[in-house]
Amino acid sequence: MSEKSEPVSAELYAYLAARTSQEDSFLAKLKLAARAAEIPSIWISPEQAAMMQILLKLKGARDVIEVGTLAGYSAITMARALGPAGRVRTIEFEDRHADFAEKWIADSDVAGRIQVLRGDGRKVLPEIADESADAAFVDADKSGYATYLQHCLRILRPGGLMMVDNAFAFGSVLEKDPEDASVRAIQDFNETMAACDELQSLILPIGDGCWVGVKRDA
Ligand code: DHB
Ligand code: MG
Repeated sequence: MSEKSEPVSAELYAYLAARTSQEDSFLAKLKLAARAAEIPSIWISPEQAAMMQILLKLKGARDVIEVGTLAGYSAITMARALGPAGRVRTIEFEDRHADFAEKWIADSDVAGRIQVLRGDGRKVLPEIADESADAAFVDADKSGYATYLQHCLRILRPGGLMMVDNAFAFGSVLEKDPEDASVRAIQDFNETMAACDELQSLILPIGDGCWVGVKRDA
């Protein structure tokens, strides 16, 4: 037994990624179309998708809140892990992204299980009822993360699953005094998460680092 952990090198990461279920042709086509539509290529990776689906299935999640729809890749991924009674409410600020996501969601196998809520998360989240979700995924503008977390903690049921993307700040989280405001926002947010008594959480080194937490019971 050892308390020392093996750092995940690029080689080890490629090894695990190659042994994770790959995306289907529908999501591959969605990505091609999103690139053609000049939507930023910042969706989650197939291995992060697999991780999130496994966590949602273990949780037995039915209702999911997402902040940051982008092209709809993660919303479709999550909806597929919820079963026929599941639903994802996903919030998107950019109309252009919401239009794209809605079209692809409508053509997907989980059409009807995903609702795109348009607007700023700071305005949309307050309209969502307390304890009405089993899981939440935040992957939006980094300046809003702390606010989105507070709302999600209210919206999650006890025992709910909290996931937050980009804990490694695009690989720059260890930078001292970074110029990029998003990196600074994530550094501050990570301290908030680490000190958050309402969650038991840790950063999983998948993708750009993904916070995974469980909301404590009452
Ligand atoms: C960026 C945002 C993301 O959510 C991500 O996963 C990767 C990059 C970005 O703003 O550059
Ligand atoms: Mg992200």
